[in-house]
Amino acid sequence: MKKQFFWGGSASAFQFEGGGTEGGKGSSIYDIREKETGVTYSVASDFYHHYKEDISWMAEMGFQAFRMSIAWSRLFPDGDGVLNQEGADFYRNVFLELKKYQIEPVVTLFHWDLPYSLVQRYDGFQSKKTLQAFIQYCKTCFGLYGDIVKYWLTLNENNLGLMLPSMYSNKKRRKSDADYWQYQWDSYHNTVMAHFYAVRLCHEMIPDAKVGCMMASSLAYPLSSDPRDVRAAQIHNQKVNWDELDLFTTGRYNTRMQQQMKEAAITLNTSESERAVMEDASSKMDFISFSYYFSVCMRDGENKNNENAKTIQMLYAAYENPCLEKSTFGWTIDPMGLRIFINELYDRYKLPVMIVENGLGVKDDILNEDGTVHDEYRIAYLREHIQAVNQARKEDHVPVLGYLPWGCIDLYSASGDWSKRYGFIYVDFAHDLKRYRKDSFFWYQKVIASDGEELGHS
Ligand code: BG6
Repeated sequence: MKKQFFWGGSASAFQFEGGGTEGGKGSSIYDIREKETGVTYSVASDFYHHYKEDISWMAEMGFQAFRMSIAWSRLFPDGDGVLNQEGADFYRNVFLELKKYQIEPVVTLFHWDLPYSLVQRYDGFQSKKTLQAFIQYCKTCFGLYGDIVKYWLTLNENNLGLMLPSMYSNKKRRKSDADYWQYQWDSYHNTVMAHFYAVRLCHEMIPDAKVGCMMASSLAYPLSSDPRDVRAAQIHNQKVNWDELDLFTTGRYNTRMQQQMKEAAITLNTSESERAVMEDASSKMDFISFSYYFSVCMRDGENKNNENAKTIQMLYAAYENPCLEKSTFGWTIDPMGLRIFINELYDRYKLPVMIVENGLGVKDDILNEDGTVHDEYRIAYLREHIQAVNQARKEDHVPVLGYLPWGCIDLYSASGDWSKRYGFIYVDFAHDLKRYRKDSFFWYQKVIASDGEELGHS
């Protein structure tokens, strides 16, 4: 653990790996979604068959770390039961390939692709049986890869858990349903326990590893200096950003969360032994990782629906910031917000931070006949955000562990299909999945080589 800061990129299994049910993989909820939506997650960027090539591109860019996730149903086709050795071998080969180029794997244990069998049999995370299956899966991952993977992330963007209706359920529930909030809290609490168990197990099984949570940052500013708007922004930040981190760092639901449960007449399905795990020192994470794409504004009273509220990252109503420009996807571009958020996190929790998602997703990348892609808009976005990271590291002296922008090789969007691209490398999804270096590839290569100093001119 000598390295202080990692440059690299990030992806998740269901959006990047493909490989369908090849090699004995079981279906995840995204394989089922594919049947409903026609979005071919079973192919995605086909990292499954291209991993050697893809890792060599990463090495050419100078990557020092690559964040990826393990598809739980590739190791355990039914989520629990017998290990699928072919799946286990696949990830070992990927990690070895990364190590060949001195690229550190940063591995998310769970990036939303719940094995479908757990949904069918147990109605997802609301059941302790799914939690037990997750514990078995974590033990297996740490046992299989603990010699080679030293950075682990528990559950992707779990702070959005209470807002994601029926994500892991067999049954579509509406807020008007009598069991809606009980189901939400049961599921949420089990994912919280999944986090604590994973951290504790990781510390026990791989003492020289670091393990952290992964949260969706959602920095809210007050729309005006009216103290009522300031309070509205504070409430948003508490609810979306801080409540779960308070829980993960203290091992206790704070009074706001307890109040929410009381108001919804929730009886939390928990026990003394779970409480002991939550409060155990070895269940406390080593760092906080997060995604950062945009900031929002709040004002007192009824908040208008954000025009992009339907995307998975914006499950709440918000106002747009009149001082900021927006991407073609309607997300505000706010590099200063990243610096603010990093500082805020560190001031509150005094834990090192890692940026594991950031970037500009657009539909505008054009592959020219000569194989070039001129994505100067992406370079402009990343330049400003990297400047903000540099300032946080070097001027504000926050221990930042790494910058791993999202979808470093084009992948499938969580809120759509493959047409929204983030990568330094273009994937020709419409034809043969061939890879092409974008202009940002060569730019990022220089950024990494200069430890973030050579950012080119704006
Ligand atoms: C994060 C998720 O919320 O945002 C990723 O962890 C997702 O899975 C990313 O892809 C970007 O969102 P989108 O909708 O542009 O794919």
